[in-house]
Amino acid sequence: MSKVLIIGAGGVGRVVAHKCAQLPDVFSEICLASRTKSRCDQIASELKRPIQTEQVDADDVPQLVALIRKFEPRLVINVALPYQDLTIMDACLETGVDYVDTANYEPLDTAKFEYKWQWAYQDRFKEAGLTALLGSGFDPGVTNVYCAYAQKHLFDEIDYVDILDCNAGDHGYPFATNFNPEINIREVSANGRYWEAGEWKETRPMEIRWDFDFPEVGEKAAYLLYHEEMESLAQNIKGLKRIRFWMTFGQSYLTHLNCLINVGMTGIEPVEFQGQKIVPLQFLKALLPDPASLGPRTTGKTCIGCLIEGRKDGQAKKVFIYNVCDHQECYRETNAQGVSYTTGVPAMIGAKQILEGQWRQPGVWNMEQLDPDPFMDDLNKYGLPWKVIDMAGVKTFAG
Ligand SMILES: NC(=O)c1ccc[n+]([C@@H]2O[C@H](COP(=O)([O-])OP(=O)(O)OC[C@H]3O[C@@H](n4cnc5c(N)ncnc54)[C@H](OP(=O)(O)O)[C@@H]3O)[C@@H](O)[C@H]2O)c1
Repeated sequence: MSKVLIIGAGGVGRVVAHKCAQLPDVFSEICLASRTKSRCDQIASELKRPIQTEQVDADDVPQLVALIRKFEPRLVINVALPYQDLTIMDACLETGVDYVDTANYEPLDTAKFEYKWQWAYQDRFKEAGLTALLGSGFDPGVTNVYCAYAQKHLFDEIDYVDILDCNAGDHGYPFATNFNPEINIREVSANGRYWEAGEWKETRPMEIRWDFDFPEVGEKAAYLLYHEEMESLAQNIKGLKRIRFWMTFGQSYLTHLNCLINVGMTGIEPVEFQGQKIVPLQFLKALLPDPASLGPRTTGKTCIGCLIEGRKDGQAKKVFIYNVCDHQECYRETNAQGVSYTTGVPAMIGAKQILEGQWRQPGVWNMEQLDPDPFMDDLNKYGLPWKVIDMAGVKTFAG
């Protein structure tokens, strides 16, 4: 029986609140806090049991500390934005509670996400006897656990990992993002990067394309991107020779994105406009559909998985471990589309592992560093069932 504080009432926060509320034996009391309290109240009104709601500015450590002292949770699930990771970790250390997030810290003024800032908290969490679980979404998150599961059960040696993320959903808008537009556009407009033979190799944005046949979804154009889980997986999957990340985009999305990039609408440097400074990307966010509003209109499926190659018992082996999620089924259960669902469910499951003790281990951890088995079992129980299929004979993009 444990109290949990959820911070952030966007699309992902909605799913986390719904899923935690479904498990009263694990999450005995829930508080949902965010910058705009009315969004927390709206989510609370959708749930079958009462939860507490609060207003908080998660950039402000004293406010967070006051809220944590008032509610006294055992754990905080951070599903605000990556900019708030460090302030929330500071508040957890000050108040002695465990921490879970779904995206690694990124400074507001530099579109460069890496784990060094959060890994620097390792000693402080260890000394305080607290657990910080980093990146407990789908990717990062489930994809890291798929790799750990493959390492533990399916392979003796892993050579290559390709993480493939396909959202084949259709929301009917010519251009919209399925999660926070600012974070999404910063991610996809950055240079691509992958890790091979011990070093990082850089590509131009969307330079490399692979038409991959996704199970239950079909062939889609996937583009090589940098994604944060590669940084920890390159360190933690023993003997790995190469890891890449691919995401699919439809032609309409790419045409609009290229145009927005070309005219400077995705910039993060403030520009002078009618006597005030505005950040183009933040202004664009204000014009785009709120990702939380896409739920009722999104149809189709997501398919996210890891194509893993290596050897077992001396034989070459290649498998795809993946989940397929249906946007409308997610909406019926949680009032949210599949991208929020596939992030929010693992955040709940990560918190559950810590509260139940399987993953309670002082320090700062990436998902693949912990035992994958209880997490993989819970994925099957709580809405994200996975499959492993043999991919022998299927060609991997050679580059
Ligand atoms: N690992 C994965 O697979 C994965 C996938 C998708 C997303 N994510 C991550 O999940 C997180 C949430 O995404 P989302 O799509 O739910 O984003 P979202 O819809 O933009 O929601 C973010 C929420 O955080 C709140 N917030 C922002 N700044 C705050 C602050 N200073 N203090 C308190 N609350 C604040 C926002 O408040 P307002 O309502 O006032 O704006 C909003 O409710 C992001 O970090 C994203 O990168 C991870």
